Amino acid sequence: MIYYLCYSSTRSEELSDDELFEILKKSQTNNADKKISGMLLCSDEYFLQVLEGDEEQVKALYNKISSDERHRHVKMVMEGHVEDRNFSAWSMTGTNITEEEFEMLKEEHGIEDMPSKDVFYQNSHIVFEYMKNFYLNESLDMNSFW
Ligand SMILES: Cc1cc2nc3c(=O)[nH]c(=O)nc-3n(C[C@H](O)[C@H](O)[C@H](O)COP(=O)(O)O)c2cc1C
Repeated sequence: MIYYLCYSSTRSEELSDDELFEILKKSQTNNADKKISGMLLCSDEYFLQVLEGDEEQVKALYNKISSDERHRHVKMVMEGHVEDRNFSAWSMTGTNITEEEFEMLKEEHGIEDMPSKDVFYQNSHIVFEYMKNFYLNESLDMNSFW
């Protein structure tokens, strides 16, 4: 069984897109070494990241990420075991969700009046489903993003 963990956090205002790109590049090599796969979804303000792999390795990485000062309010929102990885082809990939896309997602779920922050932190399964669909619908070449 594969262990997965999903957390949300608030992006630090000081974190530029270039720095974020560097984090992703580093994550791709680090995670590949540990056979960890996953995805990082970024809005202007929030992150939602899924990490999947060996439970000990994933938890150790999560601890490291939690103390990274380039984001705040790191909160685990989901964890569990799955038969197969959801993001098997990506050691880590990142994509942006625009405010417009986010509004559409909220509309689909009839939660137009819910602040994006609450969706990230309290209804994260909705964003998680969005990420899984994103994976299924996009090319599996992780270098096509970022
Ligand atoms: C939002 C966010 C997501 C991150 N995701 C990962 C990741 O998936 N893998 C990883 O190795 N580091 C990730 N990092 C970076 C770690 O916090 C840490 O800086 C890095 O693992 C240090 O790597 P090193 O020990 O090889 O220098 C992330 C940082 C942030 C802010």
